[in-house]
Amino acid sequence: LNDALDRAARWLRAAKSVCVLTGAGISAESGVPTFRASDGLWEGHRIEDVASPDGWDRNPALVWQFYNARRANVATVKPNPGHFALVALEDRFGDNFKLVTQNVDGLHLQAGSRRVLEIHGSLRQTRCTVCEAVTNRGLEPLGDAPECPQCHGRLRPHIVWFGEGLPDDIWMEAMVSASECDTLLVVGTSAVVHPAASLVPIARRKGATVIEVNITRTEASAYADIGLYGPSGEVLPKLLQRLG
Ligand code: APR
Repeated sequence: LNDALDRAARWLRAAKSVCVLTGAGISAESGVPTFRASDGLWEGHRIEDVASPDGWDRNPALVWQFYNARRANVATVKPNPGHFALVALEDRFGDNFKLVTQNVDGLHLQAGSRRVLEIHGSLRQTRCTVCEAVTNRGLEPLGDAPECPQCHGRLRPHIVWFGEGLPDDIWMEAMVSASECDTLLVVGTSAVVHPAASLVPIARRKGATVIEVNITRTEASAYADIGLYGPSGEVLPKLLQRLG
């Protein structure tokens, strides 16, 4: 790991533009559970029951119970040193930095990252199924049938579920930063969910150097020029320290 950290730091010192793709692993050390447990369940639920349009049509109350539990969990946690290291990296690169996250926990913004694209939405936001208004509700408890304050339509979580497309504008911005960066840092993602995971081969094909940070090898590893295998809350601060 030490050699790889030195190589990554050397590369980043010469880099001009950095794009970071994060997944659930970066929040694991904060106490937010990752998704892909070996039983294929999310906290006892089948993914298609709580995170798909069909599941929503069948039982919106169950979906809200699931998301309210996740909101309550996130209300009890804090960003960890991995999140803060990415704030420091952004400070270094300024406008030549973009953080694309699949996470909906909002911990990057809470840590102080500013150039963030939450491509899968946010646990903190609701969307009206009638008037489409997106509202920031923080992490307050919402009950299992919340209504739109404006039109009394049914609210849903403002989250991209399986079988749904990503918001066009946000996805385009993510594609552009992955295509134009010279360094892509891939942190704490299994890289199995598309289109998010396709940012890795896209950046690679456009000539970027790919640095992976994870506790284990993943679907992204085949594209990685440098692998930093260890917990992101330890590896990222070490990397930033070496950058000086
Ligand atoms: N440090 C670094 N990596 C870690 C750590 C850690 N402390 N703990 C776990 N990981 C890694 C795991 O090895 C795994 O590769 O984090 C990854 C988590 O993978 P997933 O649970 O599949 O999460 P993610 O890749 O973010 O999922 C993508 O799928 O479920 C949907 O929409 C949801 O955004 C999510 C998307």
